[in-house]
Amino acid sequence: MRTRRAALATIAGAASLALPLSACGKNSESSSKGRTIGIAMPTQASERWLTDGKSIVKDLQGKGYETKLVYGEDDPKTQVSQIEDLVKQGVDALIIAAIDNKSLNDVLKQAADADIPVISYDRLILGTKNVDYYVSFDNEQVGRLQARYIVEKLGLEDGKGPFNIELFAGSPDDNNTKYFFDGSMHLLQPYLDSKQLVVRSGQTALKEVTTLRWDGPTARKRMNSLLAKSYSSRTVDAVLSPYDGISIGILSALKSYGYGSAGKPLPIITGQDAELASVKSIIAGQQSQTVYKDLRQLGEVAANMVDDILNNRPPRVNSRRAYNNGAKPVPAYLLQPTSVDKANYNYVLVLGGYYTAAELK
Ligand code: GAL
Repeated sequence: MRTRRAALATIAGAASLALPLSACGKNSESSSKGRTIGIAMPTQASERWLTDGKSIVKDLQGKGYETKLVYGEDDPKTQVSQIEDLVKQGVDALIIAAIDNKSLNDVLKQAADADIPVISYDRLILGTKNVDYYVSFDNEQVGRLQARYIVEKLGLEDGKGPFNIELFAGSPDDNNTKYFFDGSMHLLQPYLDSKQLVVRSGQTALKEVTTLRWDGPTARKRMNSLLAKSYSSRTVDAVLSPYDGISIGILSALKSYGYGSAGKPLPIITGQDAELASVKSIIAGQQSQTVYKDLRQLGEVAANMVDDILNNRPPRVNSRRAYNNGAKPVPAYLLQPTSVDKANYNYVLVLGGYYTAAELK
């Protein structure tokens, strides 16, 4: 018998490039009846993953699928056992946002043996050939948008400086961390070289600046220690933060050191995900920027892909390069992120229908 995985290998080769999102999944003779999709998300502690979960479920149910949504609460072992359970329950496809991108190899082998296709959602799963598609945002662009904001606001292109900056990165076990950091450093490095930007702590290597599990309190502790050790007689002008939860932790440390007063303004602080607390902080003039990623679209792309795979249609991919996960090139659909600050949040987030004006009060 020809397995679905063998069929997938064929349709991946035929996957069509760059069809508009609205074309995805339309005119389908879907046979979704009685089929169940397993969705494994990392944590409920961050608002974004709640939005992702809701949006994927809504899209799949709209196509007639049953769904089983689980959250691993940022514990890789919990996530592995949740996926094992979904495989045992005989789900028809899996959509997975990994907690630790290298911990899923064994369980994905079980999924492959059971002929269950796997979508790597937002975060690329590494080191296994048992992942069929990758749907995410252009993550290097996320990092570039954060760095560009700092470059523009400090006037670095006009030769201004020197300014003090500190760098934060995401979780070391998340493949996106490297993309975000590399994207940012690509733009910041020339200014570090010209000494318009100075990292007073000296911590510039990725391994020195990561934040395990993207945890806000962990970032707060590190910021406290940086402020105590390197800023007793100077001020920090910018902080590169890769994610809103981390930005909120950094802000809390800065406030406890007297930043945010007339004589000691807050530094420029970037972020990502346009989480509610951070958008409110931006409106209040505290966090400076975030990178908005429309998770409704990401959910829609993932749901359409599953629907295509289960109906033997080639899923749409739009990335010219397949993403090598160390075991194989994984065909990818990448969406574009948008930089948001006080000047454009209303246009992007409120008029775009992501938040209501009342939610941001
Ligand atoms: C990343 C994701 C970011 C952010 C972060 C923490 O993988 O791409 O948008 O959500 O995890 O949850």
